[in-house]
Amino acid sequence: MIDILNYGAINLAMAIGYRTGLFDVMDTFDSPQNIGDISDQAGLNPRYVQEWLGIMTTAEIVELSQKEDENQYFLPKHCGDLITRRAGNSNLGVYTQEIPLLTTCAMEAVIEGFSSGEGVTYDHYPKFQAFMSQLANAKHRQVLINKFLPSVENSRIVQRLKAGIQVCDLGCAEGVAVILMAESFPQSRFVGIDISSEAIDEARRQTRRQKLENLDFMVLDAADLKNNREMKGLFDYVTAFDAIHDQTRPLDVLLGVNHILRLDGRFSMVDIAAKSDLADNLDHPMGPFLYTVSLMHCLPVGLVGGGTGLGMMWGREKAVEMLKEARFQQVQVIEMPDDPFNLHFFCAK
Ligand SMILES: C[S@@+](CC[C@H](N)C(=O)[O-])C[C@H]1O[C@@H](n2cnc3c(N)ncnc32)[C@H](O)[C@@H]1O
Repeated sequence: MIDILNYGAINLAMAIGYRTGLFDVMDTFDSPQNIGDISDQAGLNPRYVQEWLGIMTTAEIVELSQKEDENQYFLPKHCGDLITRRAGNSNLGVYTQEIPLLTTCAMEAVIEGFSSGEGVTYDHYPKFQAFMSQLANAKHRQVLINKFLPSVENSRIVQRLKAGIQVCDLGCAEGVAVILMAESFPQSRFVGIDISSEAIDEARRQTRRQKLENLDFMVLDAADLKNNREMKGLFDYVTAFDAIHDQTRPLDVLLGVNHILRLDGRFSMVDIAAKSDLADNLDHPMGPFLYTVSLMHCLPVGLVGGGTGLGMMWGREKAVEMLKEARFQQVQVIEMPDDPFNLHFFCAK
């Protein structure tokens, strides 16, 4: 229990260290520094920095030494390699913000949900949504065009994208993924769909800035697509990145995807890598963390208005079952070497 209390406290303090840039500043030093130098470099108040260093030192993240009776602090490089912005793909520091942000946004509403069974609407989560968008953007920029798309059907999708096809990205948010695709494949036409008009406004602004002419956006509830006559059989390829597990009507959304695909159409659903049976997740290296993110966000947003409330850990078996229920003929589940958090569910209509 003492470890649990300490680790919870350390997560919170690390989130503050990451957000304020203290880790990045300390990472630039080659030798131990005193509080004054660290605070000056970071542009922060020394008394707050001192208290924070108390946490980092007792947590054995920062090393403490003494010079002329003064405390000196050093962040070893092997720690900086994992918790600073320079760490790139290995940066786990950024994830320390997730639980504190969810606590700020939704703790009271989620506790109320335990009594009422009601969901929690997206407007509770502006800071968390912005944070998740930044993470997703960074990931799409690194892997979508160079790694993910070439992995789909042994580059067959890339060949078709080069030749010119119709593509829809569902739950596109501010359009990062679909804009990257539209830029890379000018012969193809793209549509991004999202229920959030704010997100689509931003996506349209970015598209205008980049002068892309092969890309449109629509504000639509994806759960209504299955009844949309104009869009029936319109697309060769549909993508949904991290956009299905928190739907209130996920089966309707998947039926809608099937409805808007051509007969030879393909669907790439990228969603969380987990098993549907809790007993099979016992050795998941981030089980408690991911179930907590689900409890605090994915489940409550999926329960709004009597929604299905799949939760983030709905798992591959349930996902495959639902894709088959949505009448996809072939469903392949593919592991993603560049993204161990997710699985690629590749479906043929
Ligand atoms: C976790 S975000 C994923 C964003 C994006 N695909 C990415 O990878 O960065 C999920 C998105 O789905 C959108 N969404 C949720 N329910 C929706 C619905 N019923 N119809 C369309 N979009 C929806 C949300 O507004 C949000 O932008």
